[in-house]
Amino acid sequence: MAQRAVRKAVAGRVGDLLDQVAAELEQANLHYGHGTADARDDAAALVFHALRLRHDQVPAAYRRAVTPAGRERVRGLVRRRIEERLPSAYLTGITWFAGHPIRVTPDVLVPRSPLAELCERGFEPWIDAARVQSVLDLGTGSGCIAIAAAHALPRAQVDAADLSPAALAVARDNIRRHRLQRRVRAVLSDVYGGLAGRRYDVIVSNPPYVSSAEYRGLPAEYRAEPALGLKAAAGGLAIVARILSGARAHLQPGGILVVEVGDTEAAVRRRWPRLPFIWLEFERGGGGVFLLGAADLAS
Ligand SMILES: C[S@@+](CC[C@H](N)C(=O)[O-])C[C@H]1O[C@@H](n2cnc3c(N)ncnc32)[C@H](O)[C@@H]1O
Repeated sequence: MAQRAVRKAVAGRVGDLLDQVAAELEQANLHYGHGTADARDDAAALVFHALRLRHDQVPAAYRRAVTPAGRERVRGLVRRRIEERLPSAYLTGITWFAGHPIRVTPDVLVPRSPLAELCERGFEPWIDAARVQSVLDLGTGSGCIAIAAAHALPRAQVDAADLSPAALAVARDNIRRHRLQRRVRAVLSDVYGGLAGRRYDVIVSNPPYVSSAEYRGLPAEYRAEPALGLKAAAGGLAIVARILSGARAHLQPGGILVVEVGDTEAAVRRRWPRLPFIWLEFERGGGGVFLLGAADLAS
């Protein structure tokens, strides 16, 4: 008993360990933004995961004693975060999107799209959520957007399409964990290639849009993600161009197309000067997302 008390004193409390890890990550000059905002956020993800604590147990969790075994697990994750520059979500295997837990592996991009906010609102005010019966998530990766849309639109059938069989395996696992197998279907498809004849009320996409030149300059954390999820030819515009050109044939009358293009926004405006893009704003930050109505694409 006495020995146990001494061990606990040596290993410290969760709050102290969290402070130490946050300081260590800060020192290591890492890149954040893969589901965590900064060193402290990243430290909390790693420490809580390794110690099997729940984030809703804060602040009581900070006062809990850390066992030596728990501390070792934390040290192991922190070492990998710093040495391998892996986003913390790949170390914990989980992240949150639109308030929903999403499993991730290095076969999928770590979910972080501002589109989460739009999914939460069922794409309102741009379409009447009560009327939405069909949604296509193009380039679904982990399935995060398809799953968030299905939760917000309980009457909708959702196609979650991707070119990567490995990503679709992760998406299928998430769909099953969310018990959405009846309404969300994972589809192998090269843009619209596997979706002939299908039309949707909403087509939503966070496609690859990073140019090769920009990709080479990205922090190491991005290199841990599948390049297929980030890089696109033609200065980042190749997949966006295919999404735009096929959208009219796959939208219902009155439907909407919503696409994230991030920093490629200026290039998109230059390449399609006549398209009446609406550029969306988000309360929680982020941008580079355009919206077009089916009628806009007709013109
Ligand atoms: C930026 S990631 C987005 C993943 C997920 N939707 C998210 O927001 O986290 C882009 C996804 O598009 C997929 N992709 C790339 N090229 C594609 C293509 N030609 N057709 C369909 N999907 C493609 C990639 O495999 C990747 O999963």
